[in-house]
Amino acid sequence: MPPDFSVAGKHVLITGGTGGIGGAFARAFQEAGATVIVADLKAPAPGTLPDAIRFEPLDVCSDEAVEALAARVERLDVLIHCAGRLVRWEEYKPTVFMSILDVHLVGNLRLANAFRGHLKATRGCLINIASMYSYFGAAHVPAYSAAKTAIVSLTKSLAIGFAEDHIRVNAIAPGWIKTEISRGGREDPTFNSKVVARLPNGEWAEPEELAGTALFLASAASNLINGVTIPVDGGYVAS
Ligand SMILES: NC(=O)c1ccc[n+]([C@@H]2O[C@H](COP(=O)([O-])OP(=O)(O)OC[C@H]3O[C@@H](n4cnc5c(N)ncnc54)[C@H](O)[C@@H]3O)[C@@H](O)[C@H]2O)c1
Repeated sequence: MPPDFSVAGKHVLITGGTGGIGGAFARAFQEAGATVIVADLKAPAPGTLPDAIRFEPLDVCSDEAVEALAARVERLDVLIHCAGRLVRWEEYKPTVFMSILDVHLVGNLRLANAFRGHLKATRGCLINIASMYSYFGAAHVPAYSAAKTAIVSLTKSLAIGFAEDHIRVNAIAPGWIKTEISRGGREDPTFNSKVVARLPNGEWAEPEELAGTALFLASAASNLINGVTIPVDGGYVAS
């Protein structure tokens, strides 16, 4: 039998699913035959997502909202935690620091806990979103960097912790992707020129360029991959 790369028929929930990367994942899974729910603070902009994709309003920082969403979702094979934010140069304030950890890191755990039963029932998988800042620090976003480094560790811990339920847990570490969250960096000439100089191909990427890895991690073809973080970065961390 050839490896099975299909995600057709799978049920997929994407937090941050109306954002740049989450939206690209949603479209890719839907086009590949999956049933997709996007959950986000903000509704999809008109025309950005196919009508077949269900939108659920969600604040990933709310235990109650996450639990309520879990109660509304019947079946789940794939959970992707893509919600995220950063606040350039403001994250040294403890309250801001905590709020960033809450979205990325605690939110990740909150979603994993709430949907563990769903994923156990389908022998499903969780895909977390790390970052280039999982590998090095960031003076302008110290909380974001701390959260993204911790997501690598949380991915390993959940992979081990949820293994008894046959749930795989992996992460994608995107490189430099043209979305709203990275706009501040792209529009800062000093920052942007440093990024581009280190990128082997010299270019920021489109969110769609990450989707193949997400589909692969959600498919049976990757059944032996568990607890890893895969850089999808055009060679940035290698250079
Ligand atoms: N763009 C990049 O270069 C890049 C690089 C590495 C990692 N990432 C990560 O990819 C993920 C997706 O980011 P993106 O690039 O698509 O940015 P984006 O700003 O386009 O999307 C982020 C989405 O998260 C949503 N969100 C924020 N707080 C939320 C909350 N409390 N509850 C629910 N939804 C919330 C936003 O409304 C938005 O739709 C994030 O985890 C981000 O850190 C992005």
